[in-house]
Amino acid sequence: MKVAIACDHAALDLKEAIRLHLEEKGIPYHDFGIYAQGEKLDYPYASLYVGRAIQSGDCDFGIVLCGTGVGVSIAANKMAGIRAACCGDYFSAKYTRAHNDANVLCMGERVMGAGLALELVDVFLSTPFEGGRHARRVAQIEALERGELE
Ligand code: RB5
Repeated sequence: MKVAIACDHAALDLKEAIRLHLEEKGIPYHDFGIYAQGEKLDYPYASLYVGRAIQSGDCDFGIVLCGTGVGVSIAANKMAGIRAACCGDYFSAKYTRAHNDANVLCMGERVMGAGLALELVDVFLSTPFEGGRHARRVAQIEALERGELE
């Protein structure tokens, strides 16, 4: 499992906390930045870099961060094959994997503490997709993306 991570200028501290957490756990990751305070990045680009890493198969999951988590999730969900979930609670982070087969976790540095964020990272990365009736619904999302859901 390899994880793509990125953030805009509102979430560098949270990305660093998550990057160190992945490092400590020995989970491979690709850090698409930003890398330093003072650096600026408009949040759709953070989503773009992570989404592309998943689309190419280089990474299996993504974590994208901004002030609220909302902007990066809206942007990431414009990309084919990306199912991004903006989460601020444990249950959502778990069940967006189990039921939605989400491949990108979005969170906001300005709305949550790093302690909770790391818990959400852990449960998101460790919860398998349940498949079954949920696979039918994910297929419907994919049809919607292609403009084929009737
Ligand atoms: C940046 O100031 C802020 O707008 C952004 O991080 C995010 O919260 C947008 O959704």
